[in-house]
Amino acid sequence: MKTILQTCDLTKKYKDATVVNGVNIHIEKGEVYGFIGQNGAGKTTSIRLILNLLNPTGGHVELFGEKVTNQNIYKHLKKIGSIIEIPGFYSNLSGQENLEIHRVLMNVKDKAEINRVLELVNLKDEKNKKVKNYSLGMKQRLGIARAMLHDPDFLILDEPTNGLDPKGIVEVRDLIVEIAKNHGKTIFVSSHILAEVEKMVSKIGILHRGRLLEEIDKQEFQNKSKKQSIYKVSDVNESMKLIQKQFNINQMTVDGDMLIVKNSDEHMNGLITKLLVENNITVKESKVVTPSLEEFFIKLTEESGEAI
Ligand SMILES: Nc1ncnc2c1ncn2[C@@H]1O[C@H](COP(=O)(O)OP(=O)(O)O)[C@@H](O)[C@H]1O
Ligand SMILES: [Mg+2]
Repeated sequence: MKTILQTCDLTKKYKDATVVNGVNIHIEKGEVYGFIGQNGAGKTTSIRLILNLLNPTGGHVELFGEKVTNQNIYKHLKKIGSIIEIPGFYSNLSGQENLEIHRVLMNVKDKAEINRVLELVNLKDEKNKKVKNYSLGMKQRLGIARAMLHDPDFLILDEPTNGLDPKGIVEVRDLIVEIAKNHGKTIFVSSHILAEVEKMVSKIGILHRGRLLEEIDKQEFQNKSKKQSIYKVSDVNESMKLIQKQFNINQMTVDGDMLIVKNSDEHMNGLITKLLVENNITVKESKVVTPSLEEFFIKLTEESGEAI
């Protein structure tokens, strides 16, 4: 695997406030990395640091396996496409004209590239409309087209689904998945809403108050959101023994008089409840829950020891 981005103890302070605090982000080639954190968590500041638009107070950034310096940054930026916050355009010019300006700026020789990216983001039919008449979703897609124009290896998209209606969110999400899958790009996408990016990412990094609390891959976070059964019983220890013996299940945790059996769906729940009752355990409550990633996220931020 090739490392595309590594931040090493990246830190940014403004006076007394540490906005980005010792952040170590790790992204491999081909990954779609969701950078999740509430408003004010430090996502945009991190992105500005990664793109060398801001100088860090501490730590450094490595792009494509090389430590970034003021001398080599342009070489790396040529391989990166980005959108930070809301993409800015000349609103009196058309989508196509805006891309033409960017094409010249980025020294992209082939004019046909404009049509290629317009097609990619499904804006070909609206390319002659002035940008001021574009919806927010269309502007976001035009922003992605612009970021893709010089055919970069790595895309950095700051909150591309922010403020979009549900249809717009799906369009941008499908587009990002398509770009990652069929165009072989590595994508770093930030959002303050986990549910908006959950479906498209292969890895998530959770940023809370400037600190990266956890970086986990999709498999891992899917396991964490598997169904589990919860029982309120008269004898927790006896229940555990019975379940272990009968079903060979070892993934259980106890919380007071509650027994939590991991990875247990409705069918398993029925079998376990029957077993307990048949063995004279009083089952006061029995339910199946699916912890959402949102819950996982909230739990993590609570565990970080700071009030949200
Ligand atoms: N130039 C600046 N001076 C002082 N504080 C700043 C500056 N830029 C950002 N901040 C603060 O840093 C924090 C993180 O901001 P930001 O990176 O924009 O968060 P996010 O993108 O996650 O919403 C916020 O509290 C913001 O007010
Ligand atoms: Mg931001």
